[in-house]
Amino acid sequence: MTNVDKWGPVRVRTRNPARPFEYRLSTEIVFGEGRIRELADHLRAHGLTRPLIVTDRGLRSTGIIDRVETILVEAGLPARVFDAVTSDPLTSTVEEVRDVIAEHGLNGTVGIGGGSSLDVAKAAAALATNPGAPQAYVGREKLTHDPLPIVAVPTTAGTGSEVTIWSVLTDAQTGAKVSIGSVRIMPRVALLDPELTYGLPPAITAATGMDALSHAVESYGSVWNHPIAESLALRAIELVGQHLRPAVSNGADPMARRGMLMASLISELAANSTRLGLCHALALPLGANHHVPHGVANALLLAPVADFNAAAAPDRYRIIATLLGAPDDAAIAIDRLRGDIGITDGLAAWNVRPDDFGRIVAMALKSDNCQANPREAGEQELTALLHAAL
Ligand SMILES: [Fe+2]
Repeated sequence: MTNVDKWGPVRVRTRNPARPFEYRLSTEIVFGEGRIRELADHLRAHGLTRPLIVTDRGLRSTGIIDRVETILVEAGLPARVFDAVTSDPLTSTVEEVRDVIAEHGLNGTVGIGGGSSLDVAKAAAALATNPGAPQAYVGREKLTHDPLPIVAVPTTAGTGSEVTIWSVLTDAQTGAKVSIGSVRIMPRVALLDPELTYGLPPAITAATGMDALSHAVESYGSVWNHPIAESLALRAIELVGQHLRPAVSNGADPMARRGMLMASLISELAANSTRLGLCHALALPLGANHHVPHGVANALLLAPVADFNAAAAPDRYRIIATLLGAPDDAAIAIDRLRGDIGITDGLAAWNVRPDDFGRIVAMALKSDNCQANPREAGEQELTALLHAAL
């Protein structure tokens, strides 16, 4: 007899606990308050003597980039700066950065900022040594040459791009989200200094924090998970449960900022090798088509997706619920957290209409994140999840 819940028949995707897996980490992780002062030493250690800082104008206006430039000048390593990265970065921006590298004879990139700046820094360093357009390398392991050295300095706590094989871009021609995935573009060094996140506004802290939580929850629920990823994901969920509310309410709370930056890092150390789930499958086209900030899309979808998945992986979702402080129901715990940190408007506030759902669902169904999800979902189920987040 097929089990049925309010979402429809529960079609469980079976997880094989004896599945073989690989776990690779080629990135050196440097973590701690004030450690941005060591940046020049790390660049030199990797032969990155003529660096290009890749960032966005918003971050530049906070003074962080000036500070980093001063640190590098004092260490005898002056850097050029490309500050025109936007959210949902375009493949054409990556080509621009590649041209700046060539024009000035630079020999590596330092991505400083949120996921967009890090993803552009990674892809541009790859394009500097792999000929042609970024689109030629979309997919897994298409790069044929090692990129220039990449160093990643996240200033938000959410994407975890500093330790991933992925650069997520928007195709400037088609508007679709495209991802370049390769172990070659994992940064040589991820330098995580919690002090760089102290000035992050509450709304961005909230959205990026929910992105980190969704990486951990979806990785833990993935049918491709394994013990290394599980340990990291569980600790990340616990850290978000402890630290996201205080990080949003008091940005200068050092323990909260440290906890969230660690949560962001280790949630991606988990998700890198397990893929994610339906929440990310839907969040990516919502970013590409409607410019819903990635973290906000995840924040709105994660509770409905947890409610949908709970029947397929009840033990796992009970553990998630307990770690988030609501022993009975992960969806309730996630929803409460979302409300407490001020993400209260649904997708409709971002001009997403039910008429748009067909296109979003069609794009989501192409994502391998759907295959990682513990419960099978087709057009009908994904449409119902979007309605729940509207
Ligand atoms: Fe994400």
